[in-house]
Amino acid sequence: MSRYAAFVLFLALGIELHLSRGTEVSVLGKDGKLCLYANLMVNFSVSYEVTGNTNETVEIELPVEVKSDESTCDVTSSVLMLSFGEGHSWRVNFTGNDQMYQVDSIMFSYNLGDSTHFPNSLSNGTMSVSMTPHITGVGMDTCYSCKSKDVIQSDSVNQTLWNVLIQAFVSNGSKSEKISTCSADLPVTTVAPPTPTTTPTTTPTTTPNTTTTEAPNSTTIAPHNTTTPTTIPTTIPTTTPTPTLPPPITGKYSIKQDENSTACLLASFGLRIGFKQGDKYQEMNLDPNGTQVSGSCGVNSSELVLTSNTMTVMLTFANDTKKFRLHALNVTGKTSSGVVFSEGNNNLSLWQAAVGSSYMCNKEQNYTITGLLTIYTYNLQVQPFGVKKGVFSTAHECSLDDTSILIPIIVGAALAGLILIVVIAYVIGRRKTYVGYQTL
Ligand SMILES: *[C@@H]1O[C@H](CO)[C@@H](O)[C@H](O)[C@H]1NC(C)=O
Ligand SMILES: *[C@@H]1O[C@H](CO)[C@@H](O)[C@H](O)[C@H]1NC(C)=O
Ligand SMILES: *[C@@H]1O[C@H](CO)[C@@H](O)[C@H](O)[C@H]1NC(C)=O
Ligand SMILES: *[C@@H]1O[C@H](CO)[C@@H](O)[C@H](O)[C@H]1NC(C)=O
Ligand SMILES: *[C@@H]1O[C@H](CO)[C@@H](O)[C@H](O)[C@H]1NC(C)=O
Ligand SMILES: *[C@@H]1O[C@H](CO)[C@@H](O)[C@H](O)[C@H]1NC(C)=O
Ligand SMILES: *[C@@H]1O[C@H](CO)[C@@H](O)[C@H](O)[C@H]1NC(C)=O
Ligand SMILES: *[C@@H]1O[C@H](CO)[C@@H](O)[C@H](O)[C@H]1NC(C)=O
Ligand SMILES: *[C@@H]1O[C@H](CO)[C@@H](O)[C@H](O)[C@H]1NC(C)=O
Ligand SMILES: *[C@@H]1O[C@H](CO)[C@@H](O)[C@H](O)[C@H]1NC(C)=O
Ligand SMILES: *[C@@H]1O[C@H](CO)[C@@H](O)[C@H](O)[C@H]1NC(C)=O
Ligand SMILES: *[C@@H]1O[C@H](CO)[C@@H](O)[C@H](O)[C@H]1NC(C)=O
Repeated sequence: MSRYAAFVLFLALGIELHLSRGTEVSVLGKDGKLCLYANLMVNFSVSYEVTGNTNETVEIELPVEVKSDESTCDVTSSVLMLSFGEGHSWRVNFTGNDQMYQVDSIMFSYNLGDSTHFPNSLSNGTMSVSMTPHITGVGMDTCYSCKSKDVIQSDSVNQTLWNVLIQAFVSNGSKSEKISTCSADLPVTTVAPPTPTTTPTTTPTTTPNTTTTEAPNSTTIAPHNTTTPTTIPTTIPTTTPTPTLPPPITGKYSIKQDENSTACLLASFGLRIGFKQGDKYQEMNLDPNGTQVSGSCGVNSSELVLTSNTMTVMLTFANDTKKFRLHALNVTGKTSSGVVFSEGNNNLSLWQAAVGSSYMCNKEQNYTITGLLTIYTYNLQVQPFGVKKGVFSTAHECSLDDTSILIPIIVGAALAGLILIVVIAYVIGRRKTYVGYQTL
């Protein structure tokens, strides 16, 4: 029983570990209640001058442990002030009205005199960079969430924000359950980022030359009232991201060893790829119509290559004696804007099933292949090894991750219950026999 309990505990801890790794800060107001909450990750890439008239670039991460006691909460403006290291700080200014709040500016100040982070720096002064992220129009009593990376560039500092969860102007002392998700996290076709909002300026020491005052209600970027219809904007920022891409058509693909034999590899799926390019994200469907199929079947490795007119997808399956898996995936293609990309990962363990059976997953599934490439599959069934008579063998159906975590917990709990019943029955049994002796 203790072994199962430990197993369940281990699982619970494992889940916990996956959740939070960022810098988490809770700012309390004058009344001692939570008024500002932030959990986020920030990286800075800082370029500074070193002896010898050259520039050095260093990476600095916002530590998990920061000081936040200079943060303030007010009715219409709040400041998240995080200090760390030898005189570095990161300050976020929020403003709000009764309906919405936004981040007005972020100021990163770094002390070049800190020789651990800035070795051989020519200057020893404190530099400050002000930037404007596009965190606007967040409803009151709502958390802003953005898992995607948001890079804000300036001359000497590139700041990367990700895994962000923020709530300013917390009203009743606890973080809201309502979430406002950034557009980058939503699956949309061609998201054009609102680039004009990132206006960084570098200024030595503390003279924050306030960045260009953008319209405070630039949240819903409606297409401008262009009187001249000749200038059609090619990239209209989609603020209401409804997936405009239809679900991909399911394609059936097979590979034969030679002309006269039956198929040795079978695959059937609809495929969509999502590709990140700078801060743009684009999705494309693989159109099975007109897609050329090639590949090979081997004992230890089989390959399926699909070539459409927009992309080439290469799938490599491995036979690990008893099980097979999708071992490598490589996608090369061209986005609608003409950018050529090639992304691949040859260390995957997806779509696993016993050799001689097939792997099936009808639900829409998404897989992160690389930091830039995600694939979405629909009506998936594959069998890369041991195909008999040209048809799929028994399918191993994909299981939800949740249930695969739940099952050991349920089993553990059931066993614990069973043991308890046995112990109780034993105790009762002993009592009965004892009572029996007495009456004799
Ligand atoms: C170093 O960076 C500064 C601006 O931060 C720039 O003016 C200077 O030209 C750079 N020097 C070199 C050698 O790249
Ligand atoms: C941010 O807030 C602080 C404190 O309220 C203020 O002194 C500073 O001027 C603000 N900065 C910007 C850029 O608005
Ligand atoms: C900073 O540098 C100046 C000269 O560049 C020097 O006089 C001063 O002592 C330095 N300050 C510190 C704290 O190192
Ligand atoms: C910021 O990013 C740009 C584009 O990736 C790069 O050219 C530049 O060197 C970076 N600057 C710093 C300080 O890392
Ligand atoms: C920033 O400072 C420059 C000169 O230092 C000034 O010309 C400019 O108007 C300032 N910008 C803002 C937005 O205050
Ligand atoms: C923009 O905000 C101002 C006040 O900040 C408000 O008066 C105006 O109605 C807003 N415009 C839109 C289109 O929401
Ligand atoms: C946009 O154009 C329409 C008709 O062309 C007009 O009725 C409306 O007032 C315009 N809106 C603004 C904000 O200019
Ligand atoms: C396929 O079969 C045909 C006739 O049955 C035969 O002529 C041909 O050589 C075979 N091809 C292969 C690759 O075995
Ligand atoms: C495939 O494409 C061709 C030509 O583009 C078209 O004639 C045909 O109808 C398409 N087939 C399907 C199933 O969409
Ligand atoms: C899978 O690999 C094992 C051992 O390498 C081999 O015995 C078996 O025949 C392979 N299965 C297929 C279907 O190629
Ligand atoms: C993907 O395929 C392209 C073209 O064959 C190749 O250049 C690239 O190195 C491959 N990438 C990986 C990660 O295998
Ligand atoms: C990816 O799949 C997970 C569950 O497997 C789901 O929670 C998530 O929303 C999916 N992401 C996208 C962008 O579809």
